[in-house]
Amino acid sequence: MSKKLGIITSGGDAPGLNAVIRAIVKASALRDWQCIGFLGGFEGLLDPPAYRELDYHVLGSLLYRGGTVLGTSNRGHFAAKSGHGQINHIPDDVIENSKRTVASLELDALICIGGDGSLTIAQQLFEAGIPVVGVPKTIDNDLQATLMTFGFETAVACAVDALDRLHTTAESHNRVMVLEVMGRHAGWIALQAGLAGGADVILIPEIPFDYAAICAKIAARDADGKLFTIVVVAEGACPHDGQIMTQGSAQADREVRMGGIGAQVTAEIEQRSGRESRCVVLGHLQRGGAPSPWDRQLCTRFGVLAVQQVADGNFGCMIALTPSGMAPVKLTDAIARVHRVTPDHEMVQVCRALGVCMGDA
Ligand code: F6P
Repeated sequence: MSKKLGIITSGGDAPGLNAVIRAIVKASALRDWQCIGFLGGFEGLLDPPAYRELDYHVLGSLLYRGGTVLGTSNRGHFAAKSGHGQINHIPDDVIENSKRTVASLELDALICIGGDGSLTIAQQLFEAGIPVVGVPKTIDNDLQATLMTFGFETAVACAVDALDRLHTTAESHNRVMVLEVMGRHAGWIALQAGLAGGADVILIPEIPFDYAAICAKIAARDADGKLFTIVVVAEGACPHDGQIMTQGSAQADREVRMGGIGAQVTAEIEQRSGRESRCVVLGHLQRGGAPSPWDRQLCTRFGVLAVQQVADGNFGCMIALTPSGMAPVKLTDAIARVHRVTPDHEMVQVCRALGVCMGDA
């Protein structure tokens, strides 16, 4: 029986959104199913609905194109998260409005491509009776129940490229170079990029840091004849006696913006160690551009499995990468809590075994 799917890309963009759209549309076309894409995230569901037809024969070049052809938003009427772990209930009229759109467009399912906040919205729509399948997107890699989200690997590659470049200039000038990366309350980007990029100091939100420990590491490198130091700091990292740094004031319809710790770490290092230091904030470069080959295949598998769930009538689930391959898991398991680095994680232990300073010793 023919079906009609609605696709939504929501939250901060991530490399690979278009690759998921392509996979869903292509797999649907082979079943003679129709797809439409809502514009601007969940907001596109609201009356009058904003959407476009997604005809596989007309679409092209989506596999490797960054961003999302549907647009996205991480604020607005559907804000289900406004702070760390703080869940908001979407207003009843917004849910009812969305249900009317799904009914009037005769959709059999919504495929929601998003991270923690967006899949919390998707779960609330599911509880209200809308058939929903989720796909795990976020450069932060902070979703539970999947080994990996898409976009993360590309973001790490971007950060490693930056570290390679910072290494050569740091070495030429005998400087301390500090790279601030994204990740919100999870240190996955900083940790994996720091490992892959040979950082000397890695500061993550899960391990509060001490400036004395960082300066001791710089001094030890000096004594070894290594007159430069590479520091990676996650935007959510903070000193023992400090607070997470944010930008602007808190707003009800979105999560607070983070950032600024890189500049603070740089200034403290310069003042305490007397070493010339510079800060680079990688920012949205991590989210832009083409997805890596790894992310392209991940996105393609996520998209195809999402279509399969619709065929099976399995809703309220998210497609996950599991040790035995792709499989559906409950949306509630994916959003139960933020997936963070444990302080004794094997990768943290590898860093310590190499003498990398994690900010605490
Ligand atoms: O969640 C993805 C992410 O890129 C975070 O790492 C970062 O804190 C945030 O989004 C930035 O959001 P915005 O695009 O609103 O600046």
